[in-house]
Amino acid sequence: MNFKVLKSKIGFAAEVFGIDARQNVSQEHKIELTRLINEYAVIIFKNQKINDDQQIKFSENFGTIEPAGTNTELTKMKDRRLSLKMNDVSNLDKNNKPLAKSNQNRIFGLGNRLWHTDASFKKKPVTFSILSGRKVSAKGGETEFCDMRCGYKALSKEMKNKVENLIGEHSLQYSRGKLGFVMKDVLSKKELEKFKPVLQPLVRKNSITNRKSLYLSAHLGLIKGWELADSILFINDLIEICACSDYIYSHKWEENDLVIWDNTQVMHRGRYFNDQKEVRDVRRTTIAGTEMLIDQ
Ligand SMILES: [Fe+2]
Repeated sequence: MNFKVLKSKIGFAAEVFGIDARQNVSQEHKIELTRLINEYAVIIFKNQKINDDQQIKFSENFGTIEPAGTNTELTKMKDRRLSLKMNDVSNLDKNNKPLAKSNQNRIFGLGNRLWHTDASFKKKPVTFSILSGRKVSAKGGETEFCDMRCGYKALSKEMKNKVENLIGEHSLQYSRGKLGFVMKDVLSKKELEKFKPVLQPLVRKNSITNRKSLYLSAHLGLIKGWELADSILFINDLIEICACSDYIYSHKWEENDLVIWDNTQVMHRGRYFNDQKEVRDVRRTTIAGTEMLIDQ
């Protein structure tokens, strides 16, 4: 196994060679892959023609799989295309047809186009995401990753001091609200209760590399103790600092690419493609977090 760093200037994103995700991963390779993810935050494997069971098995090398959300009536079990261990990030319904423009699941899924970290709204936030490109769009549909360690490093000393002890409130209500999705209009009171914001620190430190990073996301809607308007402006300013082109790796998908990223160190977003004409079947497994970062 070897690898090549794709943004070598900042040591971000690496392509890994010599791994077959359909096969068992040796203990030695598991340790090396975990090291590479922590060091480069995004790792890419080409030509990995896998099925769901193989993706699940490969993902379990990195921890326990976080089941896909079943919090809402929007994602009824009977409408699911994939098992609960898989997150469906495609533009397809259960008959493998593109979701219509006005379909609520499609609109909910458009939240993936905002800069975010996966499932930062969980009390124990997830760690790695593993995304498999089964079918990819010919035009557009890239995934952009933003190195949040660089974002943190770019802050002035004053800003570093300011963010150090701040606490953010994360919820799907905030990210979907940014797209005009009014959750209280479409969800029951009981469902809304499940979207209650959770608290996360704004700064995280990687326990292996000791590097600090900003923990931001479209799901972050409020700084604890602040006015809403002040929070929104401050969060927007921070995201703008991080999402500078020098700190971004844009992944142009090819069929059977497999990409792993560390949600504790990067934000990401999907880019536009014509989801009414093209098929983009990408499937995600997600590794559950093992600890709560802040008492709720
Ligand atoms: Fe995502």
